[in-house]
Amino acid sequence: MNAPAPLPLGSTIGILGGGQLGQMTAIAARRLGYRTVVLDPDPASPGAQVADQLVQGPLDDPATIEALAQHASVVTYEFENVDADAVAALERQVPVHPSSQLLRTSQHRIREKTAIQRLGGDVAPFRAVSSAADLEDALQALRLPLVVKTATGGYDGKGQAVVATADEARAACDRLLAVSDTLIVEEQVSLALELSVICARDEAGHLTTYPAAENRHVGGILDVSSAPARVSTDVARRADVVARQLAEGLDLVGLLCVEMFVDQQGHVLVNEMAPRPHNSGHHTLEACATSQFEQLVRILAGLPLGDTTLARPAAMANLLGDWWGPDGELPVARMLGVPGVVLHLYGKAAARPGRKMGHLTAVANTTDEAVERVLTARGERPAIP
Ligand SMILES: Nc1ncnc2c1ncn2[C@@H]1O[C@H](COP(=O)(O)OP(=O)(O)O)[C@@H](O)[C@H]1O
Ligand SMILES: [Mg+2]
Repeated sequence: MNAPAPLPLGSTIGILGGGQLGQMTAIAARRLGYRTVVLDPDPASPGAQVADQLVQGPLDDPATIEALAQHASVVTYEFENVDADAVAALERQVPVHPSSQLLRTSQHRIREKTAIQRLGGDVAPFRAVSSAADLEDALQALRLPLVVKTATGGYDGKGQAVVATADEARAACDRLLAVSDTLIVEEQVSLALELSVICARDEAGHLTTYPAAENRHVGGILDVSSAPARVSTDVARRADVVARQLAEGLDLVGLLCVEMFVDQQGHVLVNEMAPRPHNSGHHTLEACATSQFEQLVRILAGLPLGDTTLARPAAMANLLGDWWGPDGELPVARMLGVPGVVLHLYGKAAARPGRKMGHLTAVANTTDEAVERVLTARGERPAIP
């Protein structure tokens, strides 16, 4: 397949969602000479702050999603919980990458896990649960402890519960079935660590991956990410191969972040996929010639894929609202006093606990050293008054 002609400079790229991922994508687009239009309900959202244009409205409204098509030559999304039907309708008017079909698969944990298995990825044993009877079957088939998750709508550990007994599982399912038709109940993996691989694939089928990042979560939210992951070459290779299989098999155009578990025996199990830039790829801004955001813009614009080599080991520490002191201030001067540390703030007004406000990145000679730098810069979590 031949690649289409590149998008002319000055063309407009549409982004569904005005969060920090949209913001960093818009900055990358601007650097490459493109304009951006962001769809978001909030004119003060991080994406809207840097985009050339805002379409103000809800992300799940077909009418506002369509309005974006009027202004953009190509569209992407930075948030998965957009209405896939509306994105499918949009796709009939303007190219959308990744496709609405891939979006639909990744929006639903049962569809997602089924697709991963079909494409040769291993997953933790799971069952779909829509009723009390389904749960009893799942309890027969699966080994405790279990993780119960809503099939749709969850992110940052929201909509899930870890359960150690059958009674706890019944209580969690009762509670979650009240908010969601379908749940996934899966075995809790005894984790050695978590990894992610970001794949980038263009319309002509060229595929590249970023070196696997190692991810530490706290309370279901990514806390620290570092690369290259401190794993054996076998594990790193397996993670890369599986991620590529998924990107190819799902006919990806754009970015796909594949999140994986490595268990105590060194098995690589796929957890979930996100068809967009990912929090675990923020270090690529400083550590790679082409960041994940620029890579996405290149793909949307029909430009050649960039170099994903890690020039140096890197680490990223998230700054949730929790890190703002009781005085409502972030100790920026102290953080930036650590050599080699870079700060990104997304421009969100209210620093609420659990809200992703920004991140710190450091590059160094080793992954250990990079992690140490970002953690030193971030310091102790302040006490919430
Ligand atoms: N089956 C599991 N075994 C072990 N840990 C899990 C399992 N499922 C989720 N987790 C933990 O919870 C985190 C968030 O779960 P995930 O499925 O990625 O949902 P989200 O969409 O909220 O990111 C994971 O990164 C992992 O730390
Ligand atoms: Mg996740």
